[in-house]
Amino acid sequence: MAVSRTFSIIKPDATAGNLTGAINKVIEDGGLRIIAQRRIRMTQVQAERFYAMHAERPFFGELVEFMTSGPVVVQVLQGENAVPRYRKIMGATNPAEADEGTIRKLFAKSIGENSAHGSDSDENAAIEIAQFFSEGDIVG
Ligand code: CMP
Repeated sequence: MAVSRTFSIIKPDATAGNLTGAINKVIEDGGLRIIAQRRIRMTQVQAERFYAMHAERPFFGELVEFMTSGPVVVQVLQGENAVPRYRKIMGATNPAEADEGTIRKLFAKSIGENSAHGSDSDENAAIEIAQFFSEGDIVG
């Protein structure tokens, strides 16, 4: 299996709960390395751009409002099969459907406030990483 990268966001519900370290432990215990990390307040422009593929969804406004409501931690994660591995570590989008031990089962409040984002493909991971990090920020 090839080593690859994925993009992660620890969302405002999790930073509000002071859960960055707890979530990072689940990520590291799951076999991924945090090779870049920055705490930011996402702007409306950044959030609208990041979630542009969801612009027509009924929850888009709510999603952008939530993602700009408090600090987030943007991350680059590296490991074997990073994209599917992180999606497994996060659990289902809806925490009510997430497996035991996953980030969303452990920490998330609802489908909207679901503690973590992870890329859904290697192609999107590269696009999402480039929105927040330059290569010089990433130390594998
Ligand atoms: P994320 O992986 O960040 O990508 C899109 C986000 O939209 C998703 O996680 C959820 O947090 C959010 N989302 C998906 N479905 C709904 C919904 N029905 N209501 C509110 N937010 C949603």
